[in-house]
Amino acid sequence: MKAFGRKLAVRLVLACSLVLVLVIGGVQAQDEPYRVHETRPVILDGPYLVAPSETGMTVVWRTDTPCHSKVTFGRTAGTLEFVAEPNRHGLLPVGILHAIRLTELMPGKAYSYKVASTRVVKLKPYWSEKGLTVESPTYSFTTPDRTEEKVTFSFITDTQHEDVTRLKAHLDLVQWEKTDFLVHGGDALSWVENEEQLFEKWLGPISKRLASSKPLIFARGNHDMRGAYARSLYDYVPTPTGKYYYTVDAGPIHLLVLDTGEDKTDDKNVYAGLNRFDSYREREFAWLEAHVETSKRLAQAPFRIIVMHGPFWGWVNDQKDKWTELANRAGVDLVIAGHHHRLSRVNPGEKGNDYTILVVGQDQVATVEATTTALSVAVTDKDGTEADSFVLTRK
Ligand SMILES: [Fe+2]
Repeated sequence: MKAFGRKLAVRLVLACSLVLVLVIGGVQAQDEPYRVHETRPVILDGPYLVAPSETGMTVVWRTDTPCHSKVTFGRTAGTLEFVAEPNRHGLLPVGILHAIRLTELMPGKAYSYKVASTRVVKLKPYWSEKGLTVESPTYSFTTPDRTEEKVTFSFITDTQHEDVTRLKAHLDLVQWEKTDFLVHGGDALSWVENEEQLFEKWLGPISKRLASSKPLIFARGNHDMRGAYARSLYDYVPTPTGKYYYTVDAGPIHLLVLDTGEDKTDDKNVYAGLNRFDSYREREFAWLEAHVETSKRLAQAPFRIIVMHGPFWGWVNDQKDKWTELANRAGVDLVIAGHHHRLSRVNPGEKGNDYTILVVGQDQVATVEATTTALSVAVTDKDGTEADSFVLTRK
């Protein structure tokens, strides 16, 4: 029996030692460094700014290879004391498109920022393989502020010709020094085919001119909801609400960005039964109605401007009057739209509207300067001449 007991004790000691070795060995193995390859990603496009609000801004950029990313930012270029790093269910997102929201900003303040992307060469269960980090230069932007007494924005639309030379000439018409933000009124492309087309024919040239310092506001057009990649478009122009319709407060303007949907009924065979804009627009209407009824800022702002693609609400069955009445009730001062490719103006009272409707043509730029007492609007033609101008005074 004694011999058996000794054998058991020896076996127990051996087993414990083995477990100890395995545990220590395991810990050591977990601490082994992951592999870092000598490969640095490249920032192909951006960063560009979207979804401006008084307390937030979204920074978007694209890298050539999958990366995880962050934005460092601060009130002075030297410090960049804050870090915005997305966390998706506990994991850092890894991809080539990076959209990071900066939050808890202060209205009307200048912020410096730079983006950083670290290459992820291979995602594995353990010891994923990494690469090096690319950093952008330091840029800056200023958050909008409803208490500012002045704001200026520019509006372009219908760049669906997808002619880069023409788009650049169009962008040359914008008075960038005095523009606080750019609104694109939709039909960015003929249809949305893929990411390369999005950047090459549209976002690339525009983001270069915005110089990573002025935000883009996008009102979706009917062509932007067509094509194999239309369902991914939002990822490139995200908004503060997660929807294509939202509001922005900038100086004296309460800006309402609306989505006028498709220009034909859902049941048209061209859509192959894949569209549900009928219910989508109803939800948008309900949101707008609730906003009109509850928003103190809408009631108090010196000016209310709707930017949207179709000047007469897009296809909304026989509900156009309902939308116009709601806009009247909201005290809208001005609608700026596109879609027709030709300049026109509808004055208050002409179509049941209590507000001015400006339809901006292709290759034209509308410049809107707002003070607390007046909205000055000028449309510049492609040859640089003034095509229209008017002033609306505060109601
Ligand atoms: Fe259109």
